[in-house]
Amino acid sequence: MRSYRHRFHAGNHADVFKHWILMLLLEHMGQKDKPFRYIDTHAGAGRYLLRPEAAAEWHGGIGCLRAATSRLPPSLVRLRDHVDAFNPAGRLEHYPGSPWWAWRLCRGQDELRLFEWHPADARTLSADSALAGDPRTRIWLADGLEGLRALLPPPSRRALVMIDPPYETRDEYDRVVAALEMALARFASGVYALWYPELASVPARRLPERLERLGARWLRAHIHLDRPRADGLGMTGSGLFVVNPPWTLAAELEAVLPVLTAILANADETPHASVRSG
Ligand SMILES: C[S@@+](CC[C@H](N)C(=O)[O-])C[C@H]1O[C@@H](n2cnc3c(N)ncnc32)[C@H](O)[C@@H]1O
Repeated sequence: MRSYRHRFHAGNHADVFKHWILMLLLEHMGQKDKPFRYIDTHAGAGRYLLRPEAAAEWHGGIGCLRAATSRLPPSLVRLRDHVDAFNPAGRLEHYPGSPWWAWRLCRGQDELRLFEWHPADARTLSADSALAGDPRTRIWLADGLEGLRALLPPPSRRALVMIDPPYETRDEYDRVVAALEMALARFASGVYALWYPELASVPARRLPERLERLGARWLRAHIHLDRPRADGLGMTGSGLFVVNPPWTLAAELEAVLPVLTAILANADETPHASVRSG
């Protein structure tokens, strides 16, 4: 039984961490004139209304970044400014999902290819007139890990692929490894970003090593916030595994990730972060 809905988690610490690195990757892709294809295998609803309840997860994510009083590094200022642009009334009421980040940072010559298989979220995504009405965009109500194959290699030979599953079932760990393996066989020079949760389960703990063994150049950024649920089963942090990362990415993450981690951490946590490459 699959019940994951991203609206309950939108804007949380994992989203802020993931969208910050996604923003950096999109900015990097935009540095060359040649067009690129952005593929989002798990697009979600595209935009989220932030629930006001004190327990809502965004308070521990974008809420912390918005409230930060210290001087922010430039990439975190850009991240915050993008979220502010999504909330023109000045109040933080909506949070942008990965398709919106891509829509905002892709140029006229680039294209967006979005998959979402939950009918309600796919409907919301398709109802977004700016995003869905854009001639650069195609949206499918479909399995993104299946759909990826037909989109690689892209005609321009440049692509950024975001893979962001909910990991609701144990087979999703096997499926993402297989999908990445297939994608690299079809298009070895693509940039791939795979998000994963830090959980106690064996498949979750083994995933990063399995990805490292795929034989591609990789970077792995990880944020640990020591924030388990009372039942001990919750997500304590998350990671982003990037294949073929821009050469400048490691230095940017090493400099800024500790700052972001400190902003997102509660006073009673012992947070840490790491960036590894191979
Ligand atoms: C973590 S959320 C994605 C969030 C989004 N990438 C963002 O950053 O805003 C995962 C989404 O994937 C959808 N999903 C789950 N399995 C899928 C699959 N095999 N193909 C496409 N979408 C899937 C879920 O319905 C959910 O909306």
